[in-house]
Amino acid sequence: MAGYLVTGGCGFIGSHLCAALLDRGHTVRVLDDLSTGSESNLMPGATLVCADVSEPAAVREAMEDMDGCFHLAAIASVQRGMLDWPGTNRTNLAGAIAVLDAARSRRVPVVYASSAAVYGDCASLPISEDAPTRPLSAYGADKLGCELHARVAGAVHGIPTLGLRFFNVFGPRQNPLSPYSGVISIFCDRLRRDEAVTIHGDGGQTRDFVPVAQVVAALLAAMRGASVEAPVLNVCTGRPTSVLSLASIVGEVCGTRPKVEHGPPRLGEIRHSLGDPRRAGMALGLSDPGSLRDGLAEVVAWMDAVQPDRGRPVISQTV
Ligand code: NAD
Ligand code: UD1
Repeated sequence: MAGYLVTGGCGFIGSHLCAALLDRGHTVRVLDDLSTGSESNLMPGATLVCADVSEPAAVREAMEDMDGCFHLAAIASVQRGMLDWPGTNRTNLAGAIAVLDAARSRRVPVVYASSAAVYGDCASLPISEDAPTRPLSAYGADKLGCELHARVAGAVHGIPTLGLRFFNVFGPRQNPLSPYSGVISIFCDRLRRDEAVTIHGDGGQTRDFVPVAQVVAALLAAMRGASVEAPVLNVCTGRPTSVLSLASIVGEVCGTRPKVEHGPPRLGEIRHSLGDPRRAGMALGLSDPGSLRDGLAEVVAWMDAVQPDRGRPVISQTV
């Protein structure tokens, strides 16, 4: 059994990862500032260090006697990165550097969350890991920065790393309460309560929606694959869904005819994001992620369990 530091362990993906690590008998320490995460997401058995990931001393202390680090703490919204450029850079890039710096003295392996946002708009789909990286957002630029610093960490300091380029992750515990929340959490929350959803632009933009269980499987396997070569792998399904058809599938799952309003398109938005999952599938031994509809039904079932009467949402998180 090993001890793992999970930064961002009180967030959506981090909480699922912590549950999986604890199930396997590992010791889990979480570093989180609870800015978009919640203490209610801290898995029983995990300990919490409430601190900012961009504070090198706090991260160094949290990494003491740990065997590995999963670095997930970040401002996960592409749009928030547009609005608060320096602030998101501090968390998303300086935070990653603080983690790598803390890993330096004992060469602690680091598995970290990168993003499909590093690719920008790709001419050829699906996007393989060899595609050029041309981010269109500050968020994507910072994630690419994390990958470059991970390469330096391996080449210069001998720190093993592996970066996972998550596409659009969804599942239970994703917070629907902010305009910066993931589209699936917003659509499921609204349509189950028969409220209208807003589509930014014409809704023809497509995303590769990957269930959180697949992401956790990739994270767990990635710790064994971390190396000084600083590999990066896609975590995706290879199946495209337009935002317009997402609204209609969520409507079917919720048993309602969706009311859809159209707003202006978002700034710096990627039009089509579709990943090639084959390399990661082989390297990490991933199985089929299951259907989008089944995953959406799981999200709606979770929301109904948290709030059976389908009134106002009760999930309380500050975002
Ligand atoms: P989330 O917002 O639910 O989790 C992020 C966690 O990091 C939260 O608990 C938050 O409190 C914490 N955090 C934020 N700033 C911090 C700081 N300065 N110091 C310490 N903790 C801080 O988001 P998520 O969807 O679980 O994302 C997890 C990781 O995966 C992020 O790195 C994100 O960029 C990446 N990612 C997410 C997606 C997705 O679709 N959700 C896709 C690609 C990459
Ligand atoms: C998401 C992730 C980001 C990740 C990236 C990788 C979140 C909040 N963001 O960004 O961390 O790096 O995937 O691909 O999880 N939309 C609407 N109406 C809404 C909300 C969204 O039409 O109410 C549209 C957006 O305009 C966009 C699509 O849905 O076209 C997805 O948006 P969003 O869930 O915010 O994710 P991304 O910006 O793709």
